[in-house]
Amino acid sequence: MDKLLIEGGKRLVGETSISGAKNAALPILCAALLSAEPVTFTNVPQLKDVATLLALLGQMGVKIEREGDTVTLDASALDNPVAPYEMVKTMRASILVLGPLVARCGEARVSLPGGCAIGARPVDQHIKGLQAMGAEVAVEHGYVHARASRLKGARLVADVVTVTGTENLMMAASLADGTSIIENAAREPEVIDLANCLIAMGAKISGAGTGVIHIEGVPRLHGAQHSIMPDRIETGTYLCAAAATGGDIRLTGAMASSLDAVIGKLIEAGCTVQSEPKAIRLSAPPRLSSVSLRTAPHPAFPTDMQAQFMALDCIAQGTAIISETIFENRFMHATELQRLGADIHIDGNTAIVRGVERLQGASVMATDLRASASLVIAGLTAEGETTIERIYHLDRGYERLEEKLAALGAKARRIK
Ligand code: UD1
Repeated sequence: MDKLLIEGGKRLVGETSISGAKNAALPILCAALLSAEPVTFTNVPQLKDVATLLALLGQMGVKIEREGDTVTLDASALDNPVAPYEMVKTMRASILVLGPLVARCGEARVSLPGGCAIGARPVDQHIKGLQAMGAEVAVEHGYVHARASRLKGARLVADVVTVTGTENLMMAASLADGTSIIENAAREPEVIDLANCLIAMGAKISGAGTGVIHIEGVPRLHGAQHSIMPDRIETGTYLCAAAATGGDIRLTGAMASSLDAVIGKLIEAGCTVQSEPKAIRLSAPPRLSSVSLRTAPHPAFPTDMQAQFMALDCIAQGTAIISETIFENRFMHATELQRLGADIHIDGNTAIVRGVERLQGASVMATDLRASASLVIAGLTAEGETTIERIYHLDRGYERLEEKLAALGAKARRIK
C-alpha cells in the first residue's frame, strides 16, 4: 500500500489549479442514465471514486469514452440496472444510481451501502422518496429492489437534510409523470450543479440551491454537454494547508462563492483572503488564531472541512471548540493528530483543541478521505518527517495531490 512521506516546515507559496468537484461529478455522471442519448461532461476529475462509478455504469451497459477530463456516456443500451455489493461497498455514493435507474428502466437492484468509518449513513430518505413517487421498494438480501412502471410526481418531505438523497430524488422526479416538490432539500452547490446539468438535458427544475425544489417531470431527457463545477472541498483543503504553514498561495479555477463559511473562518483565524472571479488568493500570518466551529448543512460550515480545520486549530494560538453535527463518528483523525503532539480532548460530538507551538513528525494512519487531508496539513506544519499510511483514501478525492503540493513548494512524495 502506498504511503505519503512529508517533510514538514515549508511555507506553501505559489499557484496551483483546482479540479472538478468529486461530489458534483458523481451524481452528474449518474444523470447520464436518464437519457438514451450521449451526454458529454468536461472538467471531470481523475479520481478513484470517479473510476469506481464509471466501472459501475459500464457493467450496466453504459458506453464510456474518456479523454483527459472529458467523459462521454451513452446509456442507450442500458440493460443491467444492478449495482452489486462489491462495487457499492467501496463507494457509498453508488446509491446515486438508484433514482435514475428506477425512473429510466422501471426497475433497479442496488446493494445497501452499509456503514462506513464516519458513521451509519442510512438511505431511508432515498427509499421513502421513491415510495412516495409510487415505487414498490423491498429491502432483501442486502439489496434495495425498487420497481415502478412510471414514477408519479409527489410532494417529498425529507426528515433530514440529505445531499445524495436530494440528488437521487431530483433525478428520479425529472422523468416522473407530473410535478414533484422536494421540501427540506439540501442546498449544497453540488445540488445546483446537478440541476443545471439536468436542465441542459431538458429537465424542468426550479429552486435548486434553496430548501424547496420544484420538478415538472418530462417523458424523456436528451443529450447535452456539461462542465463540472470546481471542487470546493479540495479548494478549502489547499487554503488550510497554506494557512497552516504561514503561506501565500493562489488557487486558479476555484469558486469562492461556494466557500463562504470556510473563507469566513480562515479570515477569523487571521488570514487575508482575496476572491477573484475564477481564483482565490490566501496569505497567512506567522501564527493563526484558534477558530471554533460547528458543522451543519450548507450554507453553514461543511462537515467535509471539519478535519482540516482541526489540524489548523492544533497549532493555532488559543483553544477551539469543534462540534460535529452531521456524522456521529467523524473525529478519527483526532487520535492520529495526537500522535503528532496535538492537544485534543473529545467529548461525544465535541472536540476541544488547545493549540500547541509546533507538531512533531511521526507515522500516522489515514482513516477516511478528509481525515487523511487533515493529516497532510498537520504533516506540512510538523517538525521533521511525517509518514501517512493508507493514502488510497486520499486518491479517492484529491487529484494529483503530490504534484499540486509540489507546485506550492511542499516536500511530499509517495512511496510505493
Ligand atoms: C454527501 C457527500 C459527503 C458529505 C455529506 C454531508 C457526496 C457524494 N457525498 O454525503 O461528502 O460529507 O454529503 O455534507 O456528495 N441520513 C439519513 N438518512 C438518509 C440519508 C442521510 O439519516 O436516507 C443522514 C446521514 O446519516 C447523515 C446526514 O443525514 O447524518 C447527512 O447525510 P447525507 O447528506 O445524506 O450525506 P451523503 O449524501 O451520503
